[in-house]
Amino acid sequence: MDMLGMYPTFYVPGIGTAWVMGIIGVIHVVASHTSVGASFLFALLETKAYREDKPQLMDFIKKYGMFLLVFSYIIGSITGPGIWYAITVASPRGVGGLIHNFVWVWAAEWVYFTVEVIGVYALVYLIGKVDAKTHLKLTWSFALASWATMLLIVGILSFMMWPGNEAWYQTGSTNDAFYNLNFFAHLGTRTGSMVAMAAVVGLMVASRLKDMALRRSVVKFLAPIGLVGGLFAVMMFLYYLQTLPNNAVVMLNTHLLPVYARGMVAVFVTATLYLVFAWWKPHRLYTSLTVAMFAFISIVGVWPEERMRESMRKPYVAGQYIYGNQVIARDVPGKGIVGEVDKIAEHGLLKLHPFVPDRLRVINDSNRLEVGRLLTKVACANCHSLEPGTPLRNIPDKFHGATDEDLIAAFMQGPLKHGTQPYMPRIDLPDEEVRAIAHFLATVNSGKDVDHLIAEQQKLATKVAAK
Ligand code: HEC
Repeated sequence: MDMLGMYPTFYVPGIGTAWVMGIIGVIHVVASHTSVGASFLFALLETKAYREDKPQLMDFIKKYGMFLLVFSYIIGSITGPGIWYAITVASPRGVGGLIHNFVWVWAAEWVYFTVEVIGVYALVYLIGKVDAKTHLKLTWSFALASWATMLLIVGILSFMMWPGNEAWYQTGSTNDAFYNLNFFAHLGTRTGSMVAMAAVVGLMVASRLKDMALRRSVVKFLAPIGLVGGLFAVMMFLYYLQTLPNNAVVMLNTHLLPVYARGMVAVFVTATLYLVFAWWKPHRLYTSLTVAMFAFISIVGVWPEERMRESMRKPYVAGQYIYGNQVIARDVPGKGIVGEVDKIAEHGLLKLHPFVPDRLRVINDSNRLEVGRLLTKVACANCHSLEPGTPLRNIPDKFHGATDEDLIAAFMQGPLKHGTQPYMPRIDLPDEEVRAIAHFLATVNSGKDVDHLIAEQQKLATKVAAK
């Protein structure tokens, strides 16, 4: 029988690979958005310096550029590859699917990224060493290359939500995938927020300027741009919400907005007030306050935004055809991809998953618990942690601590088997696999030390085998 193209499941207790990816991702977004946003602020500010013949503004650009080099670029280039490592173990088939769609888009992105990194060094170190006009051209090239990296990545990220059209499933073409329904809205949201974030970091740098006249002119320039960026981001975000698939809307209304909406409004209001205040009283700009403001935006604004985007996409990880648990949800004729849910329903994961140890392929009384743990990890752990009380929608709590195996099995043979929960994959497993999962979850809920029990059973089994 043909095996499925599944990979081993990588599991991080309590938070799952989802949060590992989320934490790295948020740090990356904060660093990268700040640097892309700053590149545009530099280009605009330098244009002003050039036109109005105010070379002292270049002092600020040099300071801010140095700050970016030391913080954003180093953090960004550590977390960027970090995302690759994390997603490759968290969601190997999701990454595989994206690479098969976007390999040249990524290649292009890396070219722009190289230009960007060389650009930021050149920009900082060539101030005053080449003539002003050449430097201005350099700065604009840096800004455009920076934004190009964002534009290309956003095409890929927004395809992860969904293509938004039926065409891609038939053609499999990169264009149909890239210019998906929420591409422009998503790009606009990020472009607006990157400008606002960069403006706040700019104020942080400006607050260190001793020359008050210079500080004033920099702040009066940055604050309104930040305000426009923030407003634009909010408008584009509202447009973005209109481009989402149904499963995302359900997830948003039932699980996400009730938790995050207030924080996000608070970020917008506070950041707006802060920028207005800075604009009004530039000499009252304190570094500590600006740092706190930026931390607030990152934690209460960026974290929920990224979390929402990841959660809304459920049950899929990419293109509404790969489920979070790595199973292919549907046929994609354009790519020669065939859905796997029915095949799993017929033969079971134990027979079809290439990385199941042979001793666990057939369930018996002495391995049922271990098989249950393995199947739960494969089928559920991409979205749920297995330990009670832990943050990644842990399953024990989702079942309210139920110790009744029949009850757990009934949920799996009802909503999960028929795919009636819009945010969960259709998970249709043979009866005995469902029983094994139910047995495992009920044992966890009864408070027993499952790992210890499994170790004992393994010992016993090796003893029996030795005899
Ligand atoms: C692709 C992601 C994903 C997978 C895989 C997944 N779930 Fe869920 N599950 C969710 C989401 C999202 C929710 C609802 C959101 C929340 O409660 O935070 C949920 C909710 C639940 C609930 C609460 C009832 C409900 O409908 O809201 C139970 C019980 C549950 N899941 C069990 C399981 C079991 C058992 C498996 C594996 C056999 C599984 N889930 C696999 C994403 C997933």
